Amino acid sequence: MCGIIAYRGRKKTAGNLVLTGLKKLEYRGYDSWGVAVNDGESISVCKKTGKIGELNIADLKLPRASLAMAHSRWATHGGVTQKNAHPHMSSQGKIVVIHNGIIENYLELKKKLVKKGHTFHSETDTEVATNLIEEELTLALKKARQSEVSRELLLHAVQSALAQLEGRYAFLVMAEGCDALVAARRGSPLIVGVGEKGEYFVASDIPAFRKYTEHVMYLDDEELVIIDDKGAEFIDMRTQKLLKKRIIKITWKSDDAEKGDFPHFMIKEIMEQKETIQRAINQEPRLIQRAAAMINKAFGTYFVGCGTAGKVSMVGNYLFSKIAHKHINVEFGSEFPNFRHFIKKGSLLLAISQSGETADTLEAMEVAREKGAKLMTLVNVEGSSMDRMADLSIYLNAGPEKAVASTKATTAQMTLLTLLAYACADRLDEGRKLLIETAAKINDMLNPRYEAHIRAIAKKIDKVESMYVIGRGMNYPMALEAAIKLQEVSYIHAEGFAGGELKHGPLALISKGTPCIALVANDETRAEIISNATEVKARGAYVIGVGPQNEDVFDEWIRVPDVGNASPIVTTIPVQILAYHLALLRKNNPDMPRNLAKSVTVK
Ligand code: G6P
Repeated sequence: MCGIIAYRGRKKTAGNLVLTGLKKLEYRGYDSWGVAVNDGESISVCKKTGKIGELNIADLKLPRASLAMAHSRWATHGGVTQKNAHPHMSSQGKIVVIHNGIIENYLELKKKLVKKGHTFHSETDTEVATNLIEEELTLALKKARQSEVSRELLLHAVQSALAQLEGRYAFLVMAEGCDALVAARRGSPLIVGVGEKGEYFVASDIPAFRKYTEHVMYLDDEELVIIDDKGAEFIDMRTQKLLKKRIIKITWKSDDAEKGDFPHFMIKEIMEQKETIQRAINQEPRLIQRAAAMINKAFGTYFVGCGTAGKVSMVGNYLFSKIAHKHINVEFGSEFPNFRHFIKKGSLLLAISQSGETADTLEAMEVAREKGAKLMTLVNVEGSSMDRMADLSIYLNAGPEKAVASTKATTAQMTLLTLLAYACADRLDEGRKLLIETAAKINDMLNPRYEAHIRAIAKKIDKVESMYVIGRGMNYPMALEAAIKLQEVSYIHAEGFAGGELKHGPLALISKGTPCIALVANDETRAEIISNATEVKARGAYVIGVGPQNEDVFDEWIRVPDVGNASPIVTTIPVQILAYHLALLRKNNPDMPRNLAKSVTVK
């Protein structure tokens, strides 16, 4: 869940360079940061709690060096303290490590290392890896009867230590007296950026170095790269064989990921839905047809995602039932392994994700792959782990999404699922026509007047403790998603319910003035959801209706276009805007909600 970047090249300002890169990942909601600068003789480390965005890099006066690495942390093992921030230095100061992921057997290893005299200063699992590498390096130096750390000895020490670790990780390792950088991956993303004249970057995310280069090489699981004067050498950790990597050119520009004139990424990304939905539709029809054929042929199709993408998977279930009369199994990534027994060779798993790096969704893919299922992904980040793992990838083409709360990726995913459902029913043209019309109507809807109307509603409810969202049919999962959006950025207790479930418990929660959002589609569910809205109103609820027409029961009405089966795409947008304005009114930073991170790469 952490941001990682390293640089090795000719520039002597490596420290400043990596911190500048790290600032590009700040939006993900990190809580502390650190940097290590290696001049070939000694390594200096500086780390702090707080947000890297607030740092004036020049104030640090980092030593001049052409090798450095930096890290921003999202706490897992141990609280947010300077000691727990990365990089971590081993007890004798020989090894410095940056790590993303979780080492499952760290307690057991720690005990052994303590017995051997290593001391620990943090509560992290990372420090165990740092000392383990040092231990292996000391043994290797003794055996070789030398005191200088060569690249071979460092490589050997890193590999011997990693072989003892259980869990998923990405590591960057530097050793005192050695100007090589080692990076290794098992389950957490690492990408190598190829700059000019022997200049290399290693990062958890391309935006960290996108400003400097558009050429990348991907590190896969169980692979390691050592970077020194000889260049970048990739090694398969299982076979020890050298690997040849292709240099891939990235197509998106670095400024795609800037805020422009908007005060926050969240509202920028909400407004971008004017174009992103259209971009999602503009897929090669043959690709959609190929994907639909795979779904139609599959013996059991599973839609899997986490968080908002998990709710999108649920919408997919309704869309496929209604449009293609097809049953889909839906699971959250974290729950999917419980159903592994049903996966067969002919099954298909569709992983839905913005980042393509969510650990639980990736694990679901691994489980399905082990069982011989086919893998498909709807993903925003090209070259991400899910993209590279899948037999077939469909890109959302939404551009970088930076706000932690997903908005434009969500609607792009729903657009593609609608398209796929129509393609499965052999009605692709009809689906495309509906979505093109929907995109045009969203374009008209997203104007300053519309936003101001929603903000005015937000002002009436910004002090409440709880609010509820109800929906039926395709808008039931959207009610769940709406609740996530409200929780994430407004921190108001929010819950989503299926309208029909109200009488089975939730009605007891309604009292005078409780805001209740009703998501209404103009379809067979309309009369019943209006009746549910009437039930909550009778108990005192303040009913905010989101639908194509004003209904008597609404205290407030947020209009959305009448778009038939594309209804969930349009009902989600006003709730995104409402959540954004509630966040502002409650003085929360909507881009960086407390305790949350954008890309959940740990289980
Ligand atoms: C985090 C984000 C959510 C996102 C979820 C799944 O919780 O804050 O916005 O829906 O992860 O992420 P993915 O990248 O797989 O869509």
